[in-house]
Amino acid sequence: MSNTFYEHLFSVENKVALVTGGTRGIGLMIAEGLVRAGARVYVASRKLDACKKTAETLSAYGECFAIPSDVSTLEGCKKLADEIKAREQKLNILVNNAGLTWSSPIDEFSEKAWDKVVDLDVKGPFFLSQQLLPLLRNAATPDNRASIVNITSVNGLRPSNLQNYSYVAAKAGLGQLSVQMARDLMQDHINVNVIAPGLFKSKMTAPLFATKEMERQLLAAQPMGRSGAMEDAAGLVIFFSSKAGSFVTGVTVPSDGGATTTS
Ligand SMILES: NC(=O)c1ccc[n+]([C@@H]2O[C@H](COP(=O)([O-])OP(=O)(O)OC[C@H]3O[C@@H](n4cnc5c(N)ncnc54)[C@H](OP(=O)(O)O)[C@@H]3O)[C@@H](O)[C@H]2O)c1
Repeated sequence: MSNTFYEHLFSVENKVALVTGGTRGIGLMIAEGLVRAGARVYVASRKLDACKKTAETLSAYGECFAIPSDVSTLEGCKKLADEIKAREQKLNILVNNAGLTWSSPIDEFSEKAWDKVVDLDVKGPFFLSQQLLPLLRNAATPDNRASIVNITSVNGLRPSNLQNYSYVAAKAGLGQLSVQMARDLMQDHINVNVIAPGLFKSKMTAPLFATKEMERQLLAAQPMGRSGAMEDAAGLVIFFSSKAGSFVTGVTVPSDGGATTTS
């Protein structure tokens, strides 16, 4: 039996969304969830093949298009924003998900490892949001606020044992940048929130899952005994971007099965 109140509350139907890094891992999970919930979704990543394959696969559930782009530079952000502007009048949902990490001992940590991570993980989300503000403003009304969701990490909330120095700095920075943007975009009716993922299986975390035994031990160490699933990532984006989350801005929600709060 359908429940129209529930459907209204969590609806993202016919909203236009962009998910960076939407071709694999957490971004793909978010893109799939949004497409299946009825949004028109653009995914962006550098690799043309991955973009084509994602658009093809997700089109089985609804509307999905891909735009190959590099969001680690202002030029790349401008290009992607221009492509979206050429196709859409409005953008309701922007998910700044593309990210990379780098681990190396503190004495050897290089400038390259610093710049690559900081450029993609914190500079990119700022400039892509900036470039897309006209479309986000076009979509936003007091009753139907636009939504920026920035993907950080539990590593930006508390120390990790991974020696990923630029990553923790970038993710913590993106968290605070999001609060500032939430404040400054309040009158534009644009909400800015953060998801801080814990453990999700992806290319980024593949080395941690290298053998069956490593996977068993890793999952056994998680409070809920599992890693994150598509619904865990997509569910929060849908909440933030629907009526249900309209009164929520400037917050970080860990999606980590209680890892930061209970262990
Ligand atoms: N997996 C986890 O457990 C975990 C935990 C905490 C936080 N996170 C965060 O969640 C986000 C997604 O992580 P993931 O694990 O899903 O990573 P992933 O599997 O490595 O996927 C990264 C995605 O970003 C794209 N990408 C990389 N560089 C890009 C660039 N310069 N421009 C545009 N797109 C680019 C990749 O596609 P191309 O290679 O085609 O560009 C890919 O689609 C990241 O921000 C990460 O820090 C992940």
